[in-house]
Amino acid sequence: MIAEHAPAVTERLTPADLDRAAALLRAGALVAFPTETVYGLGADATDDAAVAAIFEAKARPRFNPLIIHVIDEAAARRLVRFDERAAQLAQRFWPGPLSLVLPRAADCPVSLLASAGLDSLALRIPAHPLPRALIRAVGRPIAAPSANRSGRVSPTTAEHVLDELDGRIAAVLDGGPCRVGIESTVLDLTGPRPRLLRPGGVGAEALEEAIGPLERGDATDAAAPRSPGMMESHYAPSLPLRLGATKAEPTEALLAFGPRAPRGAKEVRWLSRRGDLVEAAAHLFAALRALDRLEFSAIAVMPIPEHGLGLAINDRLRRAAAPRP
Ligand code: TXA
Ligand code: MG
Repeated sequence: MIAEHAPAVTERLTPADLDRAAALLRAGALVAFPTETVYGLGADATDDAAVAAIFEAKARPRFNPLIIHVIDEAAARRLVRFDERAAQLAQRFWPGPLSLVLPRAADCPVSLLASAGLDSLALRIPAHPLPRALIRAVGRPIAAPSANRSGRVSPTTAEHVLDELDGRIAAVLDGGPCRVGIESTVLDLTGPRPRLLRPGGVGAEALEEAIGPLERGDATDAAAPRSPGMMESHYAPSLPLRLGATKAEPTEALLAFGPRAPRGAKEVRWLSRRGDLVEAAAHLFAALRALDRLEFSAIAVMPIPEHGLGLAINDRLRRAAAPRP
């Protein structure tokens, strides 16, 4: 683990700043903040629209699952199912630069968009006092990817954040430079063998000391080079998806976009009636799950414009529609 000195919290930050940031987050706005690893772009993880706004601000061409930040292990246990390995690692490395991917709890309130529709959730308890105070003040789990534009490196100062996201976020809390400077280690505990998805602030050797050997890399292609955001597993409904649908069969469910939906489907769900892509992203995974029922022959999906968040929505829809092995 890379750990030297405590991070400096700049004197400019007052308790009033923290209260304001917490109020913004509770209202669904985006607030960037430092952690011991890198600066995160935070949103209320239980608010679909706020989570959609993260992807919009980062201009991400696809939806990657985000890391959810919580205050302590008890809060983590309300969101995911722990096992013995998770308990051991939490005891030893939390708070700190380790994210654990665990199965979502049945009543987990975190937005499905935050985990890109997956049944799992990546959780982390930051050690830095500033995000800790913020999470406590908000009283909800905070989704926070690194606070950079898509394709850029993770920011380690408040200036880096503003260079790329000024005008796209409500605020950034300046906590000075990040102590660790690289992202958290991401460890997948959803399978029988623990799998290292992303090397980071906690060394693989330290993890192996605690829970034994790790598998490296992606479940779908062990030979593929590992890098953040290259996670290949993704949500797929059990029904076939028919994309670009302008008509609907009477046996189909229809996923509609925009004010004019074709008639005749057995059931209709709107991504966004007013044709708003941020709203559509917010509803995407929940709507797909709601329509994924055996009483339908397929899910017909109306065309989604190929710009802004439409790129990420279409990327996910195409993956979900692709033939499966
Ligand atoms: O240090 C960090 O982890 C920073 C700070 C802000 O906490 N956050 C960060 O988040 O780096 P992000 O979104 O840039 O990286 C999240 C990584 C991605 O590689 C993603 O694929 C993986 O975590 N991930 C998140 N949820 C997952 C899940 N349910 N299953 C598998 N991988 C997941
Ligand atoms: Mg990142």
